[in-house]
Amino acid sequence: MSTTSPSPMPATLADLVQRLDQARQTGVREMGDATGTVPVGHYNDPVHWQREQEALFAQWPVVAAHSAELPAGSALPFDALGVPIVLTRSADGRARAFFNVCRHRGMALIAAGGPQPAQAKTCRSLVCPYHGWAYELDGRLRHRLHAESFDGLDPATLNLVELPCDEAGGLIFVKRTPGPAFSAAAFLQGLDAHMDWMGLTGMKVFRKVDHVYPANWKLTVDAFLEGYHIRVLHRDTIYPFFADAFTVNLHAGPHQDSLVARRAAFEAFEPPSSCAELCRLATPTQFVFPNTFLIWHPDYVSLIGMFSPAVDQVRWVHTMLIPPDRTGEDWTPHWEKTFRLIEQTVFQQEDIATAVAIQRGLSSGANAGLHAGRLEHELLRFHRGIDAAVEGSLSPAGNPTPARTKRTCKEGKAIESQKKL
Ligand code: FES
Ligand SMILES: [Fe+2]
Repeated sequence: MSTTSPSPMPATLADLVQRLDQARQTGVREMGDATGTVPVGHYNDPVHWQREQEALFAQWPVVAAHSAELPAGSALPFDALGVPIVLTRSADGRARAFFNVCRHRGMALIAAGGPQPAQAKTCRSLVCPYHGWAYELDGRLRHRLHAESFDGLDPATLNLVELPCDEAGGLIFVKRTPGPAFSAAAFLQGLDAHMDWMGLTGMKVFRKVDHVYPANWKLTVDAFLEGYHIRVLHRDTIYPFFADAFTVNLHAGPHQDSLVARRAAFEAFEPPSSCAELCRLATPTQFVFPNTFLIWHPDYVSLIGMFSPAVDQVRWVHTMLIPPDRTGEDWTPHWEKTFRLIEQTVFQQEDIATAVAIQRGLSSGANAGLHAGRLEHELLRFHRGIDAAVEGSLSPAGNPTPARTKRTCKEGKAIESQKKL
């Protein structure tokens, strides 16, 4: 967490800070225009889930890793999108993605799965563990044992199958369907400037967890899009540090950046000039549509991907990112302790346990829909975005050739600092 200010705060973020200050001074909470209801079927209908898979997870760029997880000369398996993928970074520094599938007889080139979260493996090439075919980290077929036995098979057709992949703001994005390249910076619509100013690229990985829970993925997204629940659900853990439901948001297309006010902002408010000063006043929370959060705790960052292996399952991948100047062993007990509090207590026992309990109750028929009030307006905006993506009226920015016909959509605008949609 940088305590210096290498450059001025981006104007859009400074505007958000000003709105936080205004809310603090006036005591008036920013709210949406109207309440709304999300149909229960959006959380438990397998047909709706399938449509999400096809229109959203198969088409949109999704955050696969933090940049620091993939050093030059390494490969990292990634299978949270339901197909085996391998990320590589060759000596030229460029991140690439391929199907983690050998072009000979289909073996995985690098092992994924197992009890531990995936980690990058240092390597000069990818060598298939079945018969030893080898590929460069840029995907080109490099070597086949007994190549003469494959006469008639053109080696130029046997490179790894590449997937669209790009990097911005310290995040590596991938699409799970082959197709044209996209721009991650354009996709983020200005949020990358916030991430850059806050120093996301330079952060280091301390810990990663990767678990599946029995709840629809959107129930965990919902939990991170409103601060209304902090006072009750997190009463004994983090509420002592937070103001009650004072959040300001700006929109960057379907993405958003939020400042969730901490009590410290109400005690003494100095305009922040560094990321550390900002994180003392509020918890900045960036949501990269459709399924990724960056949560800026006072001295580290949670990168959370919420993936969807089944209609009633969320795959929760939480990567704890720490400042590069605090990676020494003397810091380890501190990071272990704070990770236990946030991941094991606040997230697992409170936010995720709530999502699991809601999922269990959906089939009871007690509710035809789940209601959201005007303090939960960003949750409703998220669901409007999902609906628009499923219907084909919202496409990711940064796509050179949108795969679907689109009509004008208000979520598709560049970054804007606004109170309401
Ligand atoms: S399947 Fe990979 S070398 Fe045979
Ligand atoms: Fe929460």
